[in-house]
Amino acid sequence: MKVILSTSNPNKVREIFEIIDLDIEWVVKKIEVEEDGETFEENAIKKAKAAYDLYGPAVADDSGLEIYALDNFPGVKSARFMEGVDYSVKNAKILEMMKDLKADERGARFSCVAVYYDEKPHVFKGVIEGKIAFEAHGKNGFGYDPIFIPYGYEKSMAELSREEKNKISHRAKAFRKLSEFLSEM
Ligand code: IMP
Repeated sequence: MKVILSTSNPNKVREIFEIIDLDIEWVVKKIEVEEDGETFEENAIKKAKAAYDLYGPAVADDSGLEIYALDNFPGVKSARFMEGVDYSVKNAKILEMMKDLKADERGARFSCVAVYYDEKPHVFKGVIEGKIAFEAHGKNGFGYDPIFIPYGYEKSMAELSREEKNKISHRAKAFRKLSEFLSEM
């Protein structure tokens, strides 16, 4: 079976291939879609449908960080917040925005919605709860990982090994469900 994986983020491609282990011929395509939905689900469906309309059965995802004390910012705008600027600067900006918030006011979560589109969308969701650190730590992972401490851990997501992150992450949870669905087709 051939399936399009529609994403322009090489870090996501790496993680998705580490998570999914199926006998599928994946074709990675960068398809420009305006991510103007109000939810991760809307954007993920839009991306997957755009790929399906061009090439046939396709997978896409949308994901991001939601900080409760900041009204779920950056949310669906996670990729576009200070676009073009290095994540070390974006992360420093978020830490600055949160400098007066105490440990119990720093709750946050990462969400991922993965969609397999074949005539209609099949939607799979994953969430990891945690909190925003007081300082950035770690070099693994990507994006906001250095400032996110998963619930039950004392390390940031960027201090976890790839294997550890892929056991607990929002993307792992969503894509394991998608993988199970594809394996039963
Ligand atoms: P998307 O390509 O529209 O899904 O963009 C998601 C954005 O959310 C990324 O560019 C990152 O800024 C952030 N993000 C999503 N997942 C992760 C993760 O696993 N670690 C760190 N940042 C993430």
